[in-house]
Amino acid sequence: MNVLITGGTGHLGRLIVQRALAAGHAVRIASRRTQPSTALDGASWATVDLGAGLGLREALEDIDAIVHAASDPRNAEVADIKGTRLLAEAARDAGVSHLLFVSIVGIDRIPFPYYQHKFEAERILVDSGVPHSILRAAQFHSFIDLLLRSASRLPLIFPVPSGFHVQSVATEEVAERIAGALADGPRGMLPDYAGPEPMTLDEAATAWKAARGVRKPTFKLPTFGKTAAGFRAGHNTAPDGERGSVTWREWLDHPGARYVG
Ligand SMILES: NC(=O)c1ccc[n+]([C@@H]2O[C@H](COP(=O)([O-])OP(=O)(O)OC[C@H]3O[C@@H](n4cnc5c(N)ncnc54)[C@H](OP(=O)(O)O)[C@@H]3O)[C@@H](O)[C@H]2O)c1
Repeated sequence: MNVLITGGTGHLGRLIVQRALAAGHAVRIASRRTQPSTALDGASWATVDLGAGLGLREALEDIDAIVHAASDPRNAEVADIKGTRLLAEAARDAGVSHLLFVSIVGIDRIPFPYYQHKFEAERILVDSGVPHSILRAAQFHSFIDLLLRSASRLPLIFPVPSGFHVQSVATEEVAERIAGALADGPRGMLPDYAGPEPMTLDEAATAWKAARGVRKPTFKLPTFGKTAAGFRAGHNTAPDGERGSVTWREWLDHPGARYVG
C-alpha cells in the first residue's frame, strides 16, 4: 500500500514510519519541514501544513491509506481541528480508502481543552464519510517520563498531582498496534489501547524516583476542577481495553524511544 503518515517526524510517527516500511508499504512522510538531507530509510517526503491546507493535494497523490499522527497541543484548534477537517476533505476527494486517526483515551470524558479539540477532530473524521479507524492510546511511558523529569527540575520539591491515575504504554507498542490496524483496514472506533498496569501517578513517580536516583520528597499537589476530577477518576485509563506488555518499571530500566526535553 502507499501510505501517508502525518506527524511522521514526531515521537510516535517516526516509529510508525519504521513499522510501515518494515511491513512493505511505500511510505510518504508529511511534515511542515522541507525534506531533510539525511536518510529516510526509503520513505518519501511531502511538505504539508495541515492547518493551512498547504501541500495536501500533492501529498495525497496515489495514496491508499493515511495514518494521521500529527498534532499540536499548543495550537490544536488549527493543527488538530482545522488540519483534520482539511485532511479528511482532501482524502475524500483523492479516494483514500482508509484514514487512521491517532487519538487519546478518555478525551470524551475529560474536559481538558486539548482533549476537547482531539474529540472534535474525531467527530470531523467520522462525519467526513472517509473510511476510517480511530485508535485511542493512553499516555506514553515516555510522556510520563517527560512530565516527571520536568517536575524533578523544580527547586526543593517534586510536585505530583494528587490522586491521578495513569495506565501508560510503550510508544513502540502503540506504533505496532497502529501498523496492525493499517493492515486490518477501516474498522471505525477501535478498542482503547493502554499499558499493562493501571497505577496512580504517585506510584509511577515513586518508581521513577527510584530508577533515576532522585531523593527529593514528593509533594502531593492538591488538584481542583473537572479536568483534574477526570484524571482522578481514571478516565484516561482503559481497564477493559487492549493492553501492551511493557510495564512502567520495565520501561524505566530499559527505556525505548524518549522525548527530548
Ligand atoms: N504523547 C502521548 O502520551 C500521547 C498519548 C496518546 C495519543 N497521543 C497522540 O499521538 C499522536 C502523536 O503524538 P506525539 O507525542 O508523538 O507527537 P509529536 O512528537 O509532538 O509529533 C507531532 C507531529 O505533528 C506534526 N505537526 C504538528 N502540527 C502540524 C501541522 N500544522 N501540519 C503538519 N504537521 C504538523 C509535527 O511535524 P513537523 O514538526 O515535522 O511538521 C510533529 O512531528 C498525537 O495525535 C497525540 O495526540 C499522544
